[in-house]
Amino acid sequence: MLAHPYGRNGITGHVFREVHASCFGKLDRYCLPFIAPAHLGKPFTEKTLKALRKLDDLLVIPQLLTKNADGFVWPAGLLAELGYSEVNLNVGCPSGTVVAKGKEAGLLRDAEELERFLQDICTRSPLPVSVKTRLGLTDVSEYERLLDIFCRCPLKELIVHPRVRTELYKGTPHFACYGETLEEMPFPVAYSGDIFSPADLGALVQGYPATTHVLLGCGILANPVLGRMLKGGPAATADEIRKFHERPLEGYVEKMGGNTLFRIKV
Ligand SMILES: Cc1cc2nc3c(=O)[nH]c(=O)nc-3n(C[C@H](O)[C@H](O)[C@H](O)COP(=O)(O)O)c2cc1C
Repeated sequence: MLAHPYGRNGITGHVFREVHASCFGKLDRYCLPFIAPAHLGKPFTEKTLKALRKLDDLLVIPQLLTKNADGFVWPAGLLAELGYSEVNLNVGCPSGTVVAKGKEAGLLRDAEELERFLQDICTRSPLPVSVKTRLGLTDVSEYERLLDIFCRCPLKELIVHPRVRTELYKGTPHFACYGETLEEMPFPVAYSGDIFSPADLGALVQGYPATTHVLLGCGILANPVLGRMLKGGPAATADEIRKFHERPLEGYVEKMGGNTLFRIKV
């Protein structure tokens, strides 16, 4: 089970992760929202370093946003120096400004270019590369070609959010494309999208018994105990929820020196 805490929006960070893990148990991995890559030959900015420097006692996977191979390999080296063991590339973000610049979901626009880019970064990255993807920009028919490309690249893992960019987060995910990915992909696959309850996971696993991992996004923010419940555990007690509210406050006071107004959003 993986979690994608939306740190970029100020909701989470290492305080959230540590408190969450100690209240409800560690998840297998924690995927960081994308960071802006450092410029070639330069260190990360202080702001990015703040988000990255604290390596908690959890398996945390940072994510990069770029369409430039050198611009990926250089920060991947910096992440290796910081002690990370894997780097994720996001080719699935639907954000309009990002797509217009050809980054993230925009990378899905030119399949040949995407393959060149992926092969290059997989060869030169000092860390194993995993990818987070959508099915294409406007139509699921785009995915067949993309899946072929992903299968040819030595990825550590492919995380699939089975919607196209224009669907944003709406409508029913295209589960069949996820099923196809499970069948074809020679590397591990994780599913992402609309898992809010054990019933949702049950339906996914019933349809696709080869499922091994899901990435929890909105579901685990709405219900912080979702990971435990998906493993057959109980819902949160009132006392657990109270602690989960109090402990981030202690962490933010320590980290920010007192003024924590607006930080507690869970
Ligand atoms: C506010 C917001 C921010 C997100 N930021 C990222 C991101 O930085 N990197 C990424 O790979 N996915 C990002 N996602 C996508 C989620 O990882 C996930 O694929 C998507 O929300 C569907 O899963 P869910 O229904 O479990 O949330 C974001 C989603 C939302 C709603």
